[in-house]
Order: sequence, then C-alpha cells, then structure tokens
Amino acid sequence: MSTLTNRRILLAITGGIAAYKSAELTRRLKDAGADVRIVMTRGAQEFITPLTLQALSGHPVHTELLDAEAELGMGHIELAKWADLLLIAPATANCMAQLAQGKADDLLSTICLATVAPIAVAPAMNQAMWADAATQANLDTLQARGFHIWGPGQGIQACGDIGYGRLLEVEELVTHCQQMFESGALAGQHVVITAGPTREAIDPVRYISNHSSGKMGFALAEAAIAAGAKVTLIAGPVNLATPERCERIDVVSAQNMLDASLQLISDADIFIATAAVADYRPINPADQKVKKTPSREEFTLHLVENPDILATVANHADRPFCVGFAAETQQVEDYARAKLAKKNLNMIVANDVSDPSIGFNSDNNKVTLIDQTSSTSIGPLSKRALADKLIIEMANRQKAQQ
Ligand code: C5P
Repeated sequence: MSTLTNRRILLAITGGIAAYKSAELTRRLKDAGADVRIVMTRGAQEFITPLTLQALSGHPVHTELLDAEAELGMGHIELAKWADLLLIAPATANCMAQLAQGKADDLLSTICLATVAPIAVAPAMNQAMWADAATQANLDTLQARGFHIWGPGQGIQACGDIGYGRLLEVEELVTHCQQMFESGALAGQHVVITAGPTREAIDPVRYISNHSSGKMGFALAEAAIAAGAKVTLIAGPVNLATPERCERIDVVSAQNMLDASLQLISDADIFIATAAVADYRPINPADQKVKKTPSREEFTLHLVENPDILATVANHADRPFCVGFAAETQQVEDYARAKLAKKNLNMIVANDVSDPSIGFNSDNNKVTLIDQTSSTSIGPLSKRALADKLIIEMANRQKAQQ
C-alpha cells in the first residue's frame, strides 16, 4: 500500500504552460491512493480546461472565491480544512508574489491563508523570471514561513531558454508528496479492526448479545487513520458514526464477522480484535417467532460454541500482526497472558471490567498491555487518548518484527 492512501491532496494549478502536466500529476497522485481535489486560477484555465481535471480527479473543480453554488458544495474554508496537503503545481511567479504578500484576492490565495495544512509550492516559470531579485526575495519569504519549495528543475524551457524554471517531473512531485506523509507511525499499513457486540439469533425477533458499545474499536480506528493507516472496521450492531476516511463493514453474528475478517486477511498488516463476540449461539434458530406456552415454566435453549475469530486469523498461514483485547473481572493479567499464548497473539490489551468507571460503556479506560516479554500499564485515559497510545505501541512492535 502507498503512503498516499487515504491522504487528501488539494492540487492548485496556476497559469503557466506547465499546467498541462497537472493532468498527469492528478492521475499519478490518484494511482498512488490519494483523494485529489482541484483548484484552478483564472490563468490556469487558459492553458487547460476544468473539465479535464474534473474527469481525472472525479470531483468538481473549484475556480471562484465568490460563487454561491460552489460555496453550497465545498466552500473555500471547507476546502482549506479538508486538505492534508495543499500542492501548488505549477506555481507561477505571480502566485509566489501573492503568497509572499499574504493576499486573499482569489480562491487559491484565500485558501492558502485559511489552511493549516502544509503548503508545497512547485515553481514553474521562465528562467529569467525565476532568477529575478523579486522572485528570489519572495522565495526567501515563503521558505522562512515554512512553505515547502519543490523545484524548479533545470533544462530546456517551453520558450527555448535553458536554465532553472522547469516544473519538476510528475514522478518527482509524487515522491515528494509520499515523503511528506511517511512520518505517520502506520503510514502505508492496512489495519482491520473488529468492534462492538455480535447478535446470535434465537428466532426472527430475539437474540443473545452483550453490552459492548464498540467505542474502543472506533477510537482505535480514528487513531490508526490519524497515524496514516488505511482502516477497515468490521462492526457489529453499534450506535456509532463511522470515522471519516474509514471503510466500514456492518455484520450481525459471529459467523458474519469471521467471514468478513477472513476476506480481508491477505490484505491486512495489523488485525485488532476489540469485538465482544458472543461465545455461544443457539444451535438451530427458529424460522418463526417462538410462542410462549402457558404450561411451560422452563425453556431450554441449546447453544453451540462460536468460532474464535481472532484465533482463526492469528493461526492463518497469511497472518497479520494480531492484537487481542481481554475483558476480565479477576486475575486480569494472568488470564490475559494465557490468552496471548493460546490464541497465538503478538499483543493483548487487558482491562478490568469489574471497575464501573472503565470498560464496556464508559468513555474512559485503563489497560495493561501485554506481549511475550513485557507488561505495561496505561491510563486511565479517554478511549481516544488511550487509542493513540495503543496504536503507537502496536506500530513499534510490528515494525520491530519486520
Ligand atoms: O476469549 P476471550 O473472548 O476473552 O478473548 C477476547 C479476545 O478474543 C478479544 O480480542 C475478542 O475480540 C476476541 N474473540 C474473537 N472471537 C471470539 C471470541 C473472542 O475474536 N469468538
């Protein structure tokens, strides 16, 4: 998987002859997994049409600052917030001057002021314009303000001159983007997470289940995405919104959850099982609603053991790095360590669910992280803060094994 998977790149095109290369750049960034949206200045539209970029990016192209219709879709502030990276390629001498002055007189310059995302500038202009003292002074200003400057390259220019001012090659720009995102602890990794309870049918209207909220699994999904991973959440019936940029597969029973997990196994780098899977299910769920019989005071339900999803994944020939969760009410660490060995896991996160201030439905959690050689206590922390710490611990251990 590429480090651009799940990354949002706002590609801004300004008015130079190199604008034609932005079409290829859009394709290559998308091939590398990025979600690409396009902003074009008026000048850029003289060289290449918004329609071309719309077709290649798969999204409407943004061209106007004051366009009521566009603002109804994704306005300039939303675009500024959406981006993980704003890449201006090609950036003209005029664009660099606008940025150096901090102007906000068109869509692109306004987004540049409004975004907190890193801004990369890939200059492209005639060699004399690049060498001009004004452009060089603007360059110094932008560098001092933390803009990333990619290029320009050297060589024969469209106007016939030779020198510095060529837009970097498309491959070089894609590599710069990838390097920018390589720092995430899980950059380029696919993380699969099971979350929530399972429901095991007794008849069409009744089921056996448990109180799992799914909050820990969803918090881990958010943390893994923030660390650069592509995440697939396999969720039992829970009442939680899907985290942004997360693929979600909804399942009901343990068997459904196992099937979904096995489908993803060969593509997964890390498998995290937070689901509270029902240990048993009714052997033969009734096709019709079971009626209450007045003379019958006792009702016997025959159950059969469910497959252990985590153990099945962890013992697969193509196994990813496997992390389990153990909710215990006594001898927490001993029982968790036994599960680590029995299920063939790389790591297990144990928590004491007898304490009502942490665990199942609570927003806070305190855990002990156990692997073959160590045991570390983490928390109490909010589930999201805890998730961030757990993701770092998993990433470190998984990297150490590679
Ligand atoms: O054995 P126990 O249920 O305590 O193990 C807990 C761990 O195993 C959790 O990570 C849970 O998601 C996983 N598990 C599973 N399939 C089962 C039972 C548990 O994946 N049938």
